[in-house]
Amino acid sequence: MTRDEFKDGLLQVMTQKEHWAWPAFTSGKVEKARLHVHLEQEYAVFVRDFPVLVGRAFVQCPIPEVRRELAENLYEEETGGLHAGKPHPELFLEYPKGLGFDVRRFADVILLPGAKHYRDTIDALTISRGWAIAAAVVTLFIEGTPHERSLFDPKAPPRPEPALGDHPLAKHYGLPLESLALTKAHRGVEGEHRLSAWKVMLDHVLEVERPATVDAMQQTLRAWLRYRDDVAEACGLVKP
Ligand SMILES: [Fe+2]
Repeated sequence: MTRDEFKDGLLQVMTQKEHWAWPAFTSGKVEKARLHVHLEQEYAVFVRDFPVLVGRAFVQCPIPEVRRELAENLYEEETGGLHAGKPHPELFLEYPKGLGFDVRRFADVILLPGAKHYRDTIDALTISRGWAIAAAVVTLFIEGTPHERSLFDPKAPPRPEPALGDHPLAKHYGLPLESLALTKAHRGVEGEHRLSAWKVMLDHVLEVERPATVDAMQQTLRAWLRYRDDVAEACGLVKP
């Protein structure tokens, strides 16, 4: 597998990171009374432990240059010390707080079956399958969007970035703008951060590791789609 084929295999997975129910979340069609399910599952399935997931790639990586990138990502996620000012998992909780939800529920969330399967898949792929697979799953898949291609191709549709006041949680659910600190922090570093995540993978994953890395991304995508099906159902949405 050449570098270009590898890049294309990874991008193809990312392009498919779209779920039928997402437009219902961004257009206010999910009842506010059920929205907490989505936020709780996201938090428990990966947001809370995201710094640890980055750490799993870090500890398995023999390449100092890559480790430095991962260490910077881990440090920012765990402390907010470079940009956000606060740990990202903590900033995430500003969403439910701002929406008036009971944040105590976030302390022990019971994962939906699809969420449990997604988390098991993430664990299986990040704990002992080597840094390349761990970094792909965490820094490309989990942190990435279906719009990754636009990082390389100016003709590809870019990630939509509505003004903060038009953020779906603000626009449809009345979230105060100051509760969007995490969104702001992510936007501030997004472009550069995404590109360096890709550069690490494309420059350092060995040719022999590439096919298994793309396979792991496909496996993650399948588990993610099932997870989002379960969240959609729990939020009262029916697949068209
Ligand atoms: Fe983050």
